[in-house]
Amino acid sequence: MSAPVATKNLIEVRDLQVHFALNTSFKSRLTGRGGQSVKAVDGVSFDLQEGEVLGLVGESGSGKTTLGRALLGLVRPTGGSVKLRGEELVGLRERELRPKRRHLQMVFQDPHASLNPGMTLEKALAHPLTIHGLTSGAGETQAKVRETLELVGLSPTERFAESFPSGLSGGQKQRAAIARAIITGPDLVVADEPVSMLDMSVRAKILDLMIDLKHRIGLTYVYVTHDLASAKFFCDRVAIMYLGRIVEIGSVDEIFNDPKHPYTQALIRAIPEPDPDKALPRDLPRGEIPDAARPPLGCSFHPRCPNAFDICGWESRDLRTMLEQRWVEGGEEMYATEQPLVGDLEKLDDSEHDAFLPAGSGKDPGQLLALLEKIRGEEPDEPMWTGVKDMNAEAHGVRVTFEPGIDPPLYDTDGARAACLLYKPD
Ligand SMILES: Nc1ncnc2c1ncn2[C@@H]1O[C@H](COP(=O)(O)OP(=O)(O)O)[C@@H](O)[C@H]1O
Ligand code: SF4
Ligand SMILES: [Mg+2]
Repeated sequence: MSAPVATKNLIEVRDLQVHFALNTSFKSRLTGRGGQSVKAVDGVSFDLQEGEVLGLVGESGSGKTTLGRALLGLVRPTGGSVKLRGEELVGLRERELRPKRRHLQMVFQDPHASLNPGMTLEKALAHPLTIHGLTSGAGETQAKVRETLELVGLSPTERFAESFPSGLSGGQKQRAAIARAIITGPDLVVADEPVSMLDMSVRAKILDLMIDLKHRIGLTYVYVTHDLASAKFFCDRVAIMYLGRIVEIGSVDEIFNDPKHPYTQALIRAIPEPDPDKALPRDLPRGEIPDAARPPLGCSFHPRCPNAFDICGWESRDLRTMLEQRWVEGGEEMYATEQPLVGDLEKLDDSEHDAFLPAGSGKDPGQLLALLEKIRGEEPDEPMWTGVKDMNAEAHGVRVTFEPGIDPPLYDTDGARAACLLYKPD
């Protein structure tokens, strides 16, 4: 009997955080936003095995690019750990990081911006070889450049070696950018939306090239994309990101055939159907992605989640959203009768589990309470009401007490791991 093959982790990420400080000018302190930070990456953990392709998928602003860059040391994490073959990268100085850079490469979204217009491909590709001292002598460098151009399909290599980026098509430019990334013999390549700026007709060819290179020279990829369909085609595993967190991670099969997180489920329903006869309505969750500087309490997806329930993190801001939504949908007449009973809604913006809604000027808090009870009766399906523990009239308004929420970690399910309280063990 042969011994089981040990699978090696190339990369181990633990509780990685990248927080960007927002400016703390006098004005921003006055407006209450001083000293805040954007939690672009907020406690991310995963392993990456050698030879694997991991997709980072999510809407714009979910932290994919920042996470990809943090893996390569291109942005400085504010906390946590990234290990390359067991060796810690977080906290290294630039001088210590430099020799590791040849093992960690990036392919960017815009191939045009990532190539120097004044350099032939020969020069552009020779540059990293010289910097890292990987070849000795011009002959060896030239041979390595030609070999790499051949690998990425830019042949005849003599002709492409002499080309400037301006003489190349979009697809050829991206091939050249990939050549520059792989010429140092990296272990990990982070490809950030590498095909999203290219013509439809060449996208699949570039992804095919990347798969081919993975087998031929042994690469591991992190593939950053907002396009689930391309992740399904290209990846072995997929991590779904939302507001700086991984909310679900699993194999392509698990994520596409049996998504567990309500956000993933909505994203998958929203993939356009290629057959127009079967086209389903695009169904992204209600509302917009919240401000990453002030993420919602509890589960940060709760304001948009159709399955949200009592412990998902309801808070004062949700009460404001509910009222505003109701008045937008209910029309002028409803607004004219209900709005005067309600005082300043901005009082709800300091997010608290305990909300104090002031009554309109000269109005009786009892009337406001009656209005809220009426709305609850009319809209029992509004998920926010599951989290309302108590409503009481006080001297100048109504106090609404919410169930304290829980911020879900990634839970095991019978498939992918999902950060959703529906899977919380009892
Ligand atoms: N250098 C930066 N300074 C401040 N905020 C940033 C910076 N880079 C990214 N962000 C913020 O971090 C969040 C995640 O951004 P990003 O990683 O670019 O997401 P994605 O690639 O998923 O679109 C966003 O809210 C973005 O505005
Ligand atoms: S914990 Fe699950 S059910 Fe609750 S809001 Fe988040 S995703 Fe929805
Ligand atoms: Mg991005």
